[in-house]
Amino acid sequence: MRTHAVLDAAAVESLLAAAVAAPSIHNTQPWRFRLDPDNQVLEVRSAPERALPRTDPTHRAQYLSVGAAVFNLRLAALHLGRRPEVRLLPDPHDPGLLAAVHLTGLSAADEQPVAPGLYEAIARRHTSRMPFTGRPVPEPIVAEMTSNAHAAGARLHIPDIVGTRRLLRLTAAAEARNHAHPERIAESRAWITAPGADTSYGIPVTALGPPDAGKRIATRDFTGPVPAARRPARWFERHVQLALLWTSHDRRDDWLRAGQALQYVLLTATANGVRTSLMHQAMEWPDLRAATAFPRHKRCHPQMLIRFGYGPDGTGTPRLPGAADLG
Ligand SMILES: Cc1cc2nc3c(=O)[nH]c(=O)nc-3n(C[C@H](O)[C@H](O)[C@H](O)COP(=O)(O)O)c2cc1C
Repeated sequence: MRTHAVLDAAAVESLLAAAVAAPSIHNTQPWRFRLDPDNQVLEVRSAPERALPRTDPTHRAQYLSVGAAVFNLRLAALHLGRRPEVRLLPDPHDPGLLAAVHLTGLSAADEQPVAPGLYEAIARRHTSRMPFTGRPVPEPIVAEMTSNAHAAGARLHIPDIVGTRRLLRLTAAAEARNHAHPERIAESRAWITAPGADTSYGIPVTALGPPDAGKRIATRDFTGPVPAARRPARWFERHVQLALLWTSHDRRDDWLRAGQALQYVLLTATANGVRTSLMHQAMEWPDLRAATAFPRHKRCHPQMLIRFGYGPDGTGTPRLPGAADLG
């Protein structure tokens, strides 16, 4: 039997706390929430004022970020004993409404809760920009990441050594272009915050990683020509483990699905003690993004490059509490 108990304030708060813990490009947190208490629907909207016109003119990365928040909402709803029914882009006349999450009661015990540890991983997951040890992640964990991406409506491709080198080269090419583009540098630097800064957005300088002394892994240089903010170079892992997240179409709803799949993959890794880092630079230049697709697949639309492995945990980043954004 289904129940439709009204969500109390504590339940709404825990749903939103989970949602805002999602990763977002430059920690822009480009989402807004609105609760329709009568219908038990949480609306997820984009926050246009937190867009990145230079880095993300099509808003694709913004949709990925919102998709990741929607995935967390789903997990948190299940954790509360609710069944989340998600509709993506539910109103063609309201393009800013990216998702509507209807929180019905759970039916009987036939309904399987989420995999153990996944909800708990929401708070533990941080982007780790440090060198990893290079210890290979066991095949069953990689297989779980891959099948979960698929279950969420996207695909995960694990490249071989030649493919890995190619993806790293394309990322380095994108990073070099970003460097030659003062407006992009200025845009990303604007989201880097000083230690102890009183802000709920952006990336604290302490969460950034060092550049790779071997110059093989082009991690994003958020600080641009401010050498004081840059950490000394360190040697990164020799055997880089990468995963390319892709979808077979490239529409707005595919981006939202890709974001959900991304978060499913990141939380699966986290629940298994695996660290993750995102390398999105090549996705920000149409020709380089197209080049990251594997050549024999006509319908491969790359969405994100993920580096994963064992190593230090990432540093936490601030969040605006979800309720503060509740419209
Ligand atoms: C679409 C998207 C693109 C991102 N691109 C990068 C990137 O290129 N380099 C990077 O270091 N982090 C990247 N990130 C990670 C964000 O900077 C990170 O999620 C944000 O600062 C919040 O920190 P957290 O992931 O530790 O919670 C990206 C995240 C998203 C969702």
